[in-house]
Amino acid sequence: MSAFHQLIPAPWSFSAGTGELELDAGTSVGADPELRGPRRWLTRALGGATGWDLAPAPAREAGIRLLLDPSLDAEAYRLEVSDAVVISAGGAAGAFYGAQTLLQLLGPAALRQAPVVAVEGWSVPRVSVEDKPRFGYRGTMLDVARHFMPKDNVLRFIEVMAMHKLNVLHLHLTDDQGWRMQINRYPKLTETGAWRRESSLGSWRAGVFDGRPHGGFYTQDDLREIVAFAADRHITVIPEIDVPGHSQAAIAAYPELGAGPADGSSPVEVWTRWGINETVLEVSETSLEFYRNVLDEVVEIFPSPWISLGGDEVPLTQWQASAQAQAKAAELGLDDVSGLHSWFVGQLALHLKHHGRATSVWDEIGDGGLPDGALVASWRGYEGGIDALRKGYDVVMCPEHKLYLDHRQADGDDEPVPVGFVTTLQAVYEFEPLPGVEGTDFPGRLLGAQANIWSEHLDSPRRVQFAAFPRLSAISEVFWSNPAGRDYDEFLTRLTGAHLARLEAMGVEYRPLSGPAPWQQRPGVEGWKRDYDAEQLVRN
Ligand code: ACM
Repeated sequence: MSAFHQLIPAPWSFSAGTGELELDAGTSVGADPELRGPRRWLTRALGGATGWDLAPAPAREAGIRLLLDPSLDAEAYRLEVSDAVVISAGGAAGAFYGAQTLLQLLGPAALRQAPVVAVEGWSVPRVSVEDKPRFGYRGTMLDVARHFMPKDNVLRFIEVMAMHKLNVLHLHLTDDQGWRMQINRYPKLTETGAWRRESSLGSWRAGVFDGRPHGGFYTQDDLREIVAFAADRHITVIPEIDVPGHSQAAIAAYPELGAGPADGSSPVEVWTRWGINETVLEVSETSLEFYRNVLDEVVEIFPSPWISLGGDEVPLTQWQASAQAQAKAAELGLDDVSGLHSWFVGQLALHLKHHGRATSVWDEIGDGGLPDGALVASWRGYEGGIDALRKGYDVVMCPEHKLYLDHRQADGDDEPVPVGFVTTLQAVYEFEPLPGVEGTDFPGRLLGAQANIWSEHLDSPRRVQFAAFPRLSAISEVFWSNPAGRDYDEFLTRLTGAHLARLEAMGVEYRPLSGPAPWQQRPGVEGWKRDYDAEQLVRN
């Protein structure tokens, strides 16, 4: 076994003892009262894989003990395997991460949902682990708007995220091509906005459509279930309601929201192609009031401290032609309509503030002024994030040329619908959030980083798994582990030695390191390969 007993993400400190501790059907699990949540999760997960009942016992007498140690940070834990398994943690999150490490030490079969072999006992190597996260925000964004991901698959994705100690799921719920969240006050958002007639097949530039309706949405109870399931795994779900661009699905449902010709001569349908769209929301009290009402329902379901208002990619064409937008810009004393973009987002951010929530935005908003207390997701490279740090804002780094997992994983024609920059496993493993300015004492805080999984070209959960793994396994190590110990070759020995088998045990259809399997290829579906050019950062 290689260093760290094949753990991914690698722990900060690890020492191997001698021999193994046998667990068996009589093993009990005990926890201090504050750690009952992780005990319940561990009992279910390990009980599923082993088929054992794992009875409760007093915390200090059990075979597996979850103990509160207030000297540790909330997300930190110590795992000692000697004559018992002892997980000491600063809080429930730390105990949960200790439990995840224990499952990894038990071998890939411990990640299955039912026993596959009739074993008398399972053994854990005697080890001592001390561990904590490098960043507090370890995110993944899932675009469930371009292609809907059924709820079951979202839950499973969360389970796999949790195995990697990731703790933020940013759900991109609305876009031009679909609105995925039930809103009671505005039923047409899902009746009309949750499906489209057909979709671009591959890159929109090829001009090919599939002729097949696509749709789906989450009921509010589905979303409550997703939020609670994630919370049990110490994952915060940040919902994104993208404004004022990326809103054609909402405008198709409620045309009065749009900034198109005021005489209604150009009604829009839910958009069927990918790319940047000139259809945007009108800067009117009608649309602001509508979105305030939408957000009232959003905050009721998502307890996240941040709600994302998107704010990316807003062409000005319609506002330049709109008397209403021109008048609003004049009233606000703006030089031109370009300032309406951040003003509009700022108005809704104020509404969120009344609800006690901060706003997360893509970094474009920084061009025109950020809402108070905003969290900036820096996707157009690093600069927007660094600029926001200089101005004192919280930042999450997710630069497109580094952390966009819809981008192709190798430079070959076998990659399915190859789009974007080549973003290899090694390249994501070597990601650093602040290259060249590490150690700078910014007034703002770098909370962490996020991998973004856009789904224009990922038309099924299988395709999402192919795009996400094993790159997300590598990324989890960047977000969690000590960067001083990072070594790609050593990571590969752990990945191939045990971690791919863990993914297989969880049913994840990852991209084999040697390239896509024949059924993972999409011959004949055109992508759009790009070479990285910092001057030309345009998606799709
Ligand atoms: C983005 O990629 N448009 C945030």
